[in-house]
Amino acid sequence: MNKEQKIPVHVAIIMDGNGRWAKKRALPRTAGHAQGARTVEQILEDADHMGIRYLTVYAFSTENWSRPDSEVKALMNLLRTYMKTSLQKCARNNVRIRVIGDKSKLDKDLQIAIADLERDTASNTGIGFQIAINYGARDELARSVRSIAQKIRSGELDPEAVTEEMISDTLDTAGIPDPDLLIRTGGEQRISNFLLWQTAYSELYFCDVAWPDFNRKELEKAVDAYNHRERRYGGLMQ
Ligand code: FPP
Repeated sequence: MNKEQKIPVHVAIIMDGNGRWAKKRALPRTAGHAQGARTVEQILEDADHMGIRYLTVYAFSTENWSRPDSEVKALMNLLRTYMKTSLQKCARNNVRIRVIGDKSKLDKDLQIAIADLERDTASNTGIGFQIAINYGARDELARSVRSIAQKIRSGELDPEAVTEEMISDTLDTAGIPDPDLLIRTGGEQRISNFLLWQTAYSELYFCDVAWPDFNRKELEKAVDAYNHRERRYGGLMQ
């Protein structure tokens, strides 16, 4: 990778194509997710080495509950294993974990493992790693609106005083800069209810590679493409 390159501060990824990756190899879909989980760990390390400060991955959407029970269970078990076994690695690599999404619907033991890992990595100062679980951007916005509406009802807040910053601060990503680059693997070109508010000005990058095959070279290609974009935020070209 060219040393002059601008490294995005925050990269978000829609990890798609696990099922098709498995199917191509005559493996069960869950084998694709297991390989995908290994890719997550490697990409986190690569992103960190490249100087990316925040990485957010879409692990389980609010819509994914409609998949067969066995697949939901396998995904939850992968996430459970990650939460329960990653503390040492996070400590070694100075990684700070945050889970975004509605955690209240997850199994109690998973909720506890998440809370433990978030607490035990909270003072790490390296890469921020956000994992979206039972996440849907519309659900996140509905929760945000409810919390603001409650403040208005109690008289704590004037409706006229609601600002964009206030909305950002009530989202699960509060305090984290908006993604500069959103990557989707697996060939589809849509956002699928991921970070709708936060990606207002993100550069979008779609690639055909299935998530389990995604690697540092592919991440560098995405960063390279990002470097060739002109970010104007609605303004004029300089
Ligand atoms: C989409 O592929 C992928 C998912 C729904 C799950 C992604 C989850 C992981 C990679 C595991 C996460 C693990 C950690 C440790 C964060 P798909 O099943 O929709 O693929 P398809 O479109 O080819 O069927």
